[in-house]
Amino acid sequence: MPTAERHSPPPSAAPDGQADAPVRVEGLVKSFGRQRVLRGVTLSFPRGRTTVVLGPSGCGKSVLLKHLIGLLRPDAGSVHYEGVRVDLLSERKLGAVRREFGFLFQQGALFDSMTVRENIAFPLRELEGHESPGEEDRVRRVLRLVGLEETIEKYPSELSGGQQKRVALARAIVLGPKVILYDEPTTGLDPIRSDVINELILKLEHELKVTSIVVTHDLASAFKVADHMVMLHEGQVVAEGSPEEFRASTNPVVARFLRGEASDDELKAIREVTSANVDAARTKGADGFGAPRNDGERAPGKRRTGASGGES
Ligand SMILES: Nc1ncnc2c1ncn2[C@@H]1O[C@H](COP(=O)(O)OP(=O)(O)O)[C@@H](O)[C@H]1O
Ligand SMILES: [Mg+2]
Repeated sequence: MPTAERHSPPPSAAPDGQADAPVRVEGLVKSFGRQRVLRGVTLSFPRGRTTVVLGPSGCGKSVLLKHLIGLLRPDAGSVHYEGVRVDLLSERKLGAVRREFGFLFQQGALFDSMTVRENIAFPLRELEGHESPGEEDRVRRVLRLVGLEETIEKYPSELSGGQQKRVALARAIVLGPKVILYDEPTTGLDPIRSDVINELILKLEHELKVTSIVVTHDLASAFKVADHMVMLHEGQVVAEGSPEEFRASTNPVVARFLRGEASDDELKAIREVTSANVDAARTKGADGFGAPRNDGERAPGKRRTGASGGES
């Protein structure tokens, strides 16, 4: 990977004032069966900056990321990388695009049977077909970047969850990507280990001059790493701006998300489900197998009285 090119925008950049956004999506629509996940998403990811895409679980963040590298194809709309229509590329040509991306998947799975060294060397071997002379140096360099050089001979099972994420991140950057995609990089980590990952995201942005795209529902992480923020809600972009603009946003969806509050509709849906379940449990018996019980045991715990009123 010619690293010298990294600092200047390539000549193939889009001509329409989007030259500073190597990655763009336009009018992205994606459904799975009858479920409409993305409903016309248009976004630009500024070069050399970190964009955080916020949104509740299940809103389509991972689906969006997968479109960027052609792991999913849109039903409508387009995906652009440096002026190339990613959504139209053959699987073979996608390989060249994917090599410019590093991705840290939600389940940043390392190969359990391989050492840290072998895990990180894996993308190099895939690309070059054999061990290359510079391999050892490259593996050590990225491990040093994530602060884990001493783990090189260990197996993933000997590392903590946070260390495994960092090794997965080292593997994601070993080919010298121009764009790094982070899918929920701090999920499942305690606040301290999350902060180590946040620091690494910032460090890689600055040292490797990469364009970073982070999808998360972790607000602390989002505000720490973001230059630019986007809020996805019900398959659409409902807000976009700087972290300061987000904090001050009067958009009800953004404000509620930042406060960690469910919407009235969501609460209503939950209450309906809960009372429906209580009703069902009452008719079946609380063990769910229809076994009759005496009244004293029927409904478990706090929900015992008054959840939906009246006896069925
Ligand atoms: N390959 C798939 N097939 C069917 N449904 C999918 C697929 N991938 C994602 N979905 C559905 O799309 C919705 C959004 O998923 P996802 O993007 O993973 O959400 P999140 O914002 O939590 O990352 C979810 O309801 C999920 O079940
Ligand atoms: Mg996800």
